[in-house]
Amino acid sequence: MSILVTGGAGYVGSHTVKRLVESGEKVIVIDDLSAGHKGAVSGAELVVGDFGDKDLMRNIIKSNDVEAVFHFAAFASVDESVRDPKKYYFNNIANSLSMLEVMVETGVDKMVFSSSAATFGEPKIVPIPEDHPKDPTNPYGRSKLQLEEILKEYERAYGLRSISLRYFNASGASPDGKIGEDHRPEHHIIPLVLDVARGKREKFFIFGTDWPTRDNTCVRDYVHVSDLAQAHTLALDALRDGHATDVYNLGNGEGYTVKELIAAASKVTGKDITAVPAPRRAGDPAVLVAGSEKIKKDLGWKPEYPELEVILKTAWNWHTNNPNGFDD
Ligand code: UFG
Repeated sequence: MSILVTGGAGYVGSHTVKRLVESGEKVIVIDDLSAGHKGAVSGAELVVGDFGDKDLMRNIIKSNDVEAVFHFAAFASVDESVRDPKKYYFNNIANSLSMLEVMVETGVDKMVFSSSAATFGEPKIVPIPEDHPKDPTNPYGRSKLQLEEILKEYERAYGLRSISLRYFNASGASPDGKIGEDHRPEHHIIPLVLDVARGKREKFFIFGTDWPTRDNTCVRDYVHVSDLAQAHTLALDALRDGHATDVYNLGNGEGYTVKELIAAASKVTGKDITAVPAPRRAGDPAVLVAGSEKIKKDLGWKPEYPELEVILKTAWNWHTNNPNGFDD
């Protein structure tokens, strides 16, 4: 039997594939390489294609005896989703529905779904518990929330059980230095800040210096990508043990402002990082900090790299050793 990973050539997907392969699972990746990289996948078969293509998915599932799907494939840029919501709803919802149809038809009854802290919107309580009211501030977050809701119905109606994992800010790189974060164009804070540290970019733009936070910049909860990967394997174990459909937050429960992140990056790299104020970015909430007690208690999740400095060191190691990212 095998595990099918959609978007397994992307950032969180590839780190999870690595962990699955290391734990002895047979893994097939489907990725259209619109955001992923061939070089990020090793030890697994890579099918370059569209996860919304029902014939292709049917073939892959049948010929590989697929037991469970890990669903990472999605567009994931908050501000782009505000500018072009149809792109997000078509891919993140409509294509996912096509895939779910094939899963129901072929009897694949387990899914680990890549959800997001963006499902919450502006929090009323921090750290944010799983059952906090949901009011996404952007179409990206709404697309993730809608699929979570759809998955609950699919358990009731078709017996397809799923665990949705709401990542806060995925960050860092594989501690063995083999894979890391490479978005094109890059829009995430840590790679951009490190680009300034290594002279690849002149300056970093702070999106908003008028937020209602301790230093008026946004607060985020940075969680190491390898710790996210660990949570996915725990979710698979739980589903194999008969766990019902559920949702978990994944973060370290500690928020850092954009300015604090820049200061920490400057310390880790030993470089000055030029940062200048810029207007707020559409769709950004002021604060996102996770309450992750539920997954620790239920599934035994134990982050190995919770410290921001360690997260930044692993990212810095990868970026300095791979100055142009992946080759392909
Ligand atoms: N930021 C800047 N300048 C930049 C880039 C980012 O100031 O050039 C700020 C953002 O405004 C935000 C913080 O840095 O306050 C983090 O931004 P990222 O783009 O790195 O991450 P986001 O918080 O926007 O989004 C990430 C994922 C989403 C997920 C979200 C939930 O990309 O998928 O975390 O926490 F929904």
